[in-house]
Amino acid sequence: MDCAVSKPWTRIAALFFFSVLLAPNLWAQASPNAQDLLRQMTLEEKIAQLSQLPGMPIPEFKEQVGNMEDVVRKYGAGSVLWVSDPKEINRLQHIAVDESRLHIPILFGLDVIHGYHTIFPAPIAMASSWDPKLAESAQTIAAREARAGGISWTFAPMLDIARDARWGRMVEGAGEDPYLGAAMARAQVAGFQGSQPGSLDRVLACAKHFAGYGAADGGRDYDSSYIPEEQMWNTYLVPFKAALDAGVGTFMSAYMDLNDVPATGNRWLLHDVLRDSWHYRGFVVSDANAVHSLIAHGYARNGQDAAIKAFSAGLDMDMASGTYLKYLSEEVKQGRVSMDQIDNAVLPILEAKIRLGLFEHPFVDEGQIPRVPNAPESQELARAAVQRSLVLLRNEQALLPLDKRQIRSIAVIGPLADAELDLLGMWGAMTKPGPTVSILQGIKNKVGGTVRVEFAHGPNIRRDIPSFFENVAILPVKEQPQQTPEQARKAFNDAVATAKRNDVTVLVLGEIALMSGEGASRSSLKLSGGQQELLEAVIATGKPVVLVLVNGRPLDISWAAEHVPAILETWYSGSQAGNGIADVLFGDANPAGHLPVSWPRNSGQEPLYYDHNRTQSPEDAPDFTSRYWDSSSNPLYPFGYGLSYTSFSYGNVAVDRAQAKVGSIVNVSVDVTNTGNRPGDAVAQLYLHQRAGSASRPVRQLKGFQRVALAPGEKQTLHFKLGPDELQFWSPVKKEWSVEPEQFDVWVGADSAAKLHGEFHLTP
Ligand code: BGC
Repeated sequence: MDCAVSKPWTRIAALFFFSVLLAPNLWAQASPNAQDLLRQMTLEEKIAQLSQLPGMPIPEFKEQVGNMEDVVRKYGAGSVLWVSDPKEINRLQHIAVDESRLHIPILFGLDVIHGYHTIFPAPIAMASSWDPKLAESAQTIAAREARAGGISWTFAPMLDIARDARWGRMVEGAGEDPYLGAAMARAQVAGFQGSQPGSLDRVLACAKHFAGYGAADGGRDYDSSYIPEEQMWNTYLVPFKAALDAGVGTFMSAYMDLNDVPATGNRWLLHDVLRDSWHYRGFVVSDANAVHSLIAHGYARNGQDAAIKAFSAGLDMDMASGTYLKYLSEEVKQGRVSMDQIDNAVLPILEAKIRLGLFEHPFVDEGQIPRVPNAPESQELARAAVQRSLVLLRNEQALLPLDKRQIRSIAVIGPLADAELDLLGMWGAMTKPGPTVSILQGIKNKVGGTVRVEFAHGPNIRRDIPSFFENVAILPVKEQPQQTPEQARKAFNDAVATAKRNDVTVLVLGEIALMSGEGASRSSLKLSGGQQELLEAVIATGKPVVLVLVNGRPLDISWAAEHVPAILETWYSGSQAGNGIADVLFGDANPAGHLPVSWPRNSGQEPLYYDHNRTQSPEDAPDFTSRYWDSSSNPLYPFGYGLSYTSFSYGNVAVDRAQAKVGSIVNVSVDVTNTGNRPGDAVAQLYLHQRAGSASRPVRQLKGFQRVALAPGEKQTLHFKLGPDELQFWSPVKKEWSVEPEQFDVWVGADSAAKLHGEFHLTP
């Protein structure tokens, strides 16, 4: 036994530490019983629990229900969102706990999407790491920081499959693939919630936006989605089911019409799928104002109709529209909604508050806050996350990594080169972000005084149509100022001159934060605002150029892919962006990110995804006709693609048997070797194809992946299991999940174009 713990006083201290500090619920006052509480509640108090009140002034809300604080005082409130000032949280919580009749605490919710104080890379970047453990660790830190600041509910993870880069919210999710999406969903739920509900360093997670939001027509945000049932089950619902299996506490309904029925009033989604088929017992919150928006959709006649349509579809909590507060009690009095239905909706909300330990610990300990966000290990993890999520798209003649002993001067150029807030993306900037290291600063930190670094901004970039969010007070990200043509020309010329007089240029182009995210759809994926011209002029200087992309979605970089020797995709990489990017640029970290989306050549190819079905005239046929006549049909970079400073070879793919019975497990192994001279990580991916069946099956589907670290010359044999979970699909003919006795192909390799092939047959 450790002698320190054997002394009586240290034993007592250890006991205190483990039982009191690590398991706060042990010393807390007993929580009330949810049923007992429910029995004491009036109808109005119950409806208040079904309501989430906006923490910023919304005139429509005020019009519907009056002053938010009066509601809290009189009836309590289920939740409040968009408040992150701990003082304000405590003030409102005191009203609920001290002044409302039943003293039920408020659940404070916020979009803690990829960090609270320490901002991690945006979700699409985290997915590019193909490292779910990393995502879990990052969300553990996000949860700890948020909870210390009084936030106990996050509206994350965002699980929308996104197959159209024109849709701005691609940045918020794990990309196009349900298998990768499911892995990232499980990891994030585990990170946010942990295994011990009630730990005071965890938060309740929310699987959003249920479901089909990423398939918006034309990639236009909020537009209708038309998704056949088989695609819902096989693709769009998969990450949500994974989150549910991982124990996610809440769901959020999506904004858009799904097959003509808005998701917020869609009983098939909220009841048939979620409750009947999946046996979900938590609660569902709407998206912001979405209950009231049922009127705008042309689905509800008025507020009363909206309330009853959403509620009877299975929508428990109304986010910020006040529609339930205004109309639901009348519906009960008129007998259109029963008290049992109300109770069934309120119960999981009370239970969530109890599980979170909110009754015992309703207030923020303001004195404790600074300790949590300033933990140095959080910044270290954020930096490692940047290194692990960057995707090297091109590296001709091994231009990267840069060797600071060989370079005398570097030009760091571009409208995002000195950006800070923009590197956090929209949500990252909205919480309580700490300082951000710009790319310019990261490079300066890296080269110290040994290499001269010269900065030029180039012309400003702006959206053609400004973002609605620019005027939202809690969002500090802004457009870059409008310039006169003369100012823009001067900035352009300065940038090109800067490139000319330095040895190497790091050119940072892409999208400011407001160009991606909610309400940020685009018809073109081209580099906007003169950035393409700047790129071409800088390349024309003849100096070596590294293009560093900062953006929330794939952009049209077809020209760059032919003319720029090195291209590094960095997405929005958070607080440690500059340091992590410089680590990769100068070879202190070896990039191993792989694309979680197929990278299009142009926006005309969208929607674009690798797991499409084969046509009668497939791409490998000599008379391939189902293609564009003015552009390739293939992506610029396939799903799963990413380069390294070393090289890997894949060989000896082995399927353990040629025949297996339906229901059994087929084992696949493959050798991966680091054939270069640097240590690096390989991301081995396994793809599956069912050759025939009750329905046409995609050309290939990701069914396994592993990220492994390999020393130069090292070989590892990786093993994958293909069991019923991997082999099944939802058959539109049988209307059920089915594993079919058919011939299957497998491919293993570094991306979705992998050639190394094996096969097996499933028998009845
Ligand atoms: C977004 C959600 C978000 C909510 C609350 C909505 O506009 O669609 O993703 O959780 O606002 O901020």
